[in-house]
Amino acid sequence: MNMRIVSTVDEIRNARLILDGTVGFVPTMGFLHAGHLALIRRARDECRHVIVSIFVNPTQFNPNEDLAKYPRDLKRDFRLIEPFTDLVWTPTPEIMYPQGYQTWVEVETLTSPLEGAARAGHFRGVTTVVAKLFNIIQPTKAYFGQKDAQQAAVVRRMVRDLNFPIDIVVCPIVREADGLALSSRNVYLNAEQRKAATVLFRSLSAAKELYEAGERDAEKLRAKMKTVLASEPLAKSQYVSCADYDTLDELTAIKGKALLSMAVVIGETRLIDNFVLAG
Ligand code: PAF
Repeated sequence: MNMRIVSTVDEIRNARLILDGTVGFVPTMGFLHAGHLALIRRARDECRHVIVSIFVNPTQFNPNEDLAKYPRDLKRDFRLIEPFTDLVWTPTPEIMYPQGYQTWVEVETLTSPLEGAARAGHFRGVTTVVAKLFNIIQPTKAYFGQKDAQQAAVVRRMVRDLNFPIDIVVCPIVREADGLALSSRNVYLNAEQRKAATVLFRSLSAAKELYEAGERDAEKLRAKMKTVLASEPLAKSQYVSCADYDTLDELTAIKGKALLSMAVVIGETRLIDNFVLAG
């Protein structure tokens, strides 16, 4: 495939205009891994054209976070996506947020718990950049990973609330053989921390096992996840949740579809993971 790389808004708009038929869009922050490639392949299977954006969005990092050291390797990214992608857009922060920029998109209640509580301002940055990307690219379908479960829920809410004519497709988490969910941040882990990082998967699996054995008391599942996390000395748990799948409200009793999720810090690296309980 002959992938075209563009960077300005005019370039991407003009390149998009001449694409006829369905357009699948995969927004990314680069440093791509098999999880991103699964989204891009799915877009390739379902749409006539595929557009990928690579933009490390500064407004979704708060001042204490890892924006400056967020891993980047554009050349490698281009090589990986080239077989499946028509068009890749790599804007700069100045292009996305020029001098005088002052417009924000905010989803309210759904952004309060979990990642929203742990990362002030994060979702305001995500929904603003995703709304801009959607307006500029005007895709038929957009692809997000279940790994960022709350992000997927928030984007779906925004698309419904603001009437974007776009189908949001949420794709399953891709994992290493030992269960660690793929993430661009995994490169920060040294060998010892990498081993410890399997504790997220182990802890979610233990709670799921209880659920499959018939346990419906959400507090018991949270307690199970906390016990497994506490058994790993390198892991510091930030939150552990068993929430309603749609509202993300913490549950007392599990009655329908639910989301088990957690954020854990290992060394300097913050990892998140989740399982869906089908209900
Ligand atoms: O999931 C991500 O990589 C980012 O949050 C996204 C959706 C590309 C917006 O910057």
